[in-house]
Amino acid sequence: MKVLVLGSGGREHAFAWKLSQSDKLDKLYVAPGNAGTKELAENVNIDPNDFEKVRTFVLDKAIDMVIVGPEDPLVNGIHDFFLADEKLKQVAVIGPEKAAAEMEGSKDFAKDFMARHNIPTSQYRSITSENLEEGYEFLETLKAPYVLKADGLAAGKGVLIIEDLEEAKNSLKEMIGGMFGAASATVVIEEFLSGIELSVFVLTDGKNYKVLAEAKDYKRIGEGDTGLNTGGMGAISPVHFANEEFMSKVEERVIKPTIDGFQKDKTPFVGFVFIGLMKVGDDPFVIEYNVRMGDPETEVVLPRIKSDFLELMIAVADKKLDQFELELDERTVTTVMLVAGGYPEAYEKGKTISGIDQVTDSIVFHAGTTSKNNEVVTNGGRVIAVSSYGDTINSALKKSFNSAEKIQFEGKNYRKDIGFDLQ
Ligand code: AMP
Ligand code: GLY
Repeated sequence: MKVLVLGSGGREHAFAWKLSQSDKLDKLYVAPGNAGTKELAENVNIDPNDFEKVRTFVLDKAIDMVIVGPEDPLVNGIHDFFLADEKLKQVAVIGPEKAAAEMEGSKDFAKDFMARHNIPTSQYRSITSENLEEGYEFLETLKAPYVLKADGLAAGKGVLIIEDLEEAKNSLKEMIGGMFGAASATVVIEEFLSGIELSVFVLTDGKNYKVLAEAKDYKRIGEGDTGLNTGGMGAISPVHFANEEFMSKVEERVIKPTIDGFQKDKTPFVGFVFIGLMKVGDDPFVIEYNVRMGDPETEVVLPRIKSDFLELMIAVADKKLDQFELELDERTVTTVMLVAGGYPEAYEKGKTISGIDQVTDSIVFHAGTTSKNNEVVTNGGRVIAVSSYGDTINSALKKSFNSAEKIQFEGKNYRKDIGFDLQ
């Protein structure tokens, strides 16, 4: 089988790593990829959002399957583009069609979906310039802190959590006025949920589903979950507080109605559903849906999948996921993200990375790297994710931290307290 993975981060390197272990794989391409995927696959210099270029490449190389890493090509309708093309429609696409990708593309859509299908989530109102007064009134009924979310994609930055009511009202007005561009023309105001967060990853063929694993990520740049939000500074799977009883509630109250909801709404979903949850007391509430795998969660979830990943993807494409026996590794996997100095604010690129070959106890997943003059250099804010197995969180973390020390580049920064809240 010839497979094309779209994307360039740690998630896509983890996909490439797992796919290349399959006997069923004949040829793997990653577009555009990074210095890590280059070791396992052929990198192709194509922007995943340039559908015409993707089309030409897929036909030229007779690709059988396209696995879409990031959300934007999905929200822009790459799957629909394939289905609408006589020649492309035979190609399997792992990732939902545009209508279902709205679950991530629009917070208002996701909230409405949850209301329609009785999925537990916080109370909310969707506000635009037309009903601003209703927004102020709704804020007055809530207790602090106030949660304001840009409806559209805002590169993970569109959520404000504000303590003061007047400040929340002002921010609501500013968001609608364009604080996050068109993404915040509609703002979703939410009741604040107090609890502990985790994410559950589900794979579906539109009818059947498999729960891949749950994971916890660490989004803030600073230790103790302080400072600015990032794409994710580390992750852990499994999450011990997500015990069997809790996970069965997640399955009954959230996963089943979500998968059924896609069918009832006639918005076919083939691919990964990333469900962001808050555990409030002993009950799950949905914070958000993403229509892809998480990054860096993929770097802990995929190493826990023992089954052949390409066979798993084929089962999704053939809508035979019910016949697939998914085997998970019981061990814990942790990942620690090495980031560029200054990230998530301004940072430099092009710093030489050394010491990757010194790492023996961990899997090195490249995130923002590229090759230049036979060297691996930094090419993004999140540079490398170091994933390790362990019988306990601590034994896995110890390996990830040791390996993190061996990899060097100017300005390297990482959180030394990943998992601090799970001890
Ligand atoms: P989102 O982009 O919707 O995942 O929101 C970003 C982060 O804001 C989440 O990971 C949570 O930490 C926090 N958050 C979002 N919604 C809520 C909520 N209703 N209550 C508490 N925290 C929230
Ligand atoms: N790590 C969070 C995300 O991928 O959205």
